[in-house]
Amino acid sequence: MGNGIAQVFAQAGHAVTLRDLDRPILDRALQAVDKSLAKLAEKGKIAPGEREATLGRITAVTDLEPAAAADLAVEAVVEDLQVKSALFRELDRLAPGQAILASNTSSISITKLGAVTRRPDKVIGMHFMNPVPLMALVEVIRGQATSDETTRAVMDLSKALGKTPVEVNDFPGFVSNRVLMPMINEAIFAVYEGVAAPEAIDQVMKLGMNHPMGPLTLADFIGLDVCLAILNVLHDGLGDPKYRPCPLLKRMVDAGWLGRKSGRGFFGY
Ligand code: CAA
Repeated sequence: MGNGIAQVFAQAGHAVTLRDLDRPILDRALQAVDKSLAKLAEKGKIAPGEREATLGRITAVTDLEPAAAADLAVEAVVEDLQVKSALFRELDRLAPGQAILASNTSSISITKLGAVTRRPDKVIGMHFMNPVPLMALVEVIRGQATSDETTRAVMDLSKALGKTPVEVNDFPGFVSNRVLMPMINEAIFAVYEGVAAPEAIDQVMKLGMNHPMGPLTLADFIGLDVCLAILNVLHDGLGDPKYRPCPLLKRMVDAGWLGRKSGRGFFGY
């Protein structure tokens, strides 16, 4: 999601530093941004000259040092508390004292991430939806210590990006995934128990409930490993067996069938 987030900030006129550990991943990210901008230009959603100007605002780097000049950092690394905490410690060390540190996490506690820094009042959730350039929502998550000032700044900034921010409190899965993941998990249980084939389950939800994608196509799109990680956060954090991840989901992740990104999930790509 990092490249989509970089794209929407750059489209809104901000200078963006896009950081990853690997140069080949950065090259692919810039290609994805270029492809997305080309599509938006083709559809007349951005002016033709905007494609190059937007790309020109993104600098891709492998080290974290440029965080020293950041007003805002948006973290979008793997859904793992240890990995995110280590990065927040580093960002806290490098970024200017007034900088806001945001996380695009889909379920990990903003309060816990804030607590590893010396600025928990300036740590907040900025949860974008995939595909970031097309989806209107930013779920803005207030941790226990997040200040009113930080929340207001991020709400205003999200609006200036052309998004619609919605403020929620910090509980496992926030609102988006507390409601979405049980539906996806239930669709996987329906496959597991032989209620219907994956195609049939998705058709029921698309044609019957007007969902743009069926839940299994959406799970493949999000990534089955990400879905499992979020369900584990809900299950552990809320302690209710209704969030128990379906054994079929676990087995598919063990097999490396992660959905669209690995070429195979409930469907083939
Ligand atoms: N940039 C620019 N254009 C893009 C794009 C991108 N990143 N991604 C797709 N498009 C284009 C497609 O190429 C397509 O172009 P054409 O019409 O020329 O073919 C166009 O957008 C529309 O795509 P489709 O016609 O295939 O399908 P659509 O009209 O239904 O829209 C969609 C696509 C917006 C993805 C829609 O299917 C949808 O809303 N799906 C549900 C997405 C969703 O639920 N996202 C949230 C996931 S949860 C999450 O992200 C957070 C979490 O914590 C797990």
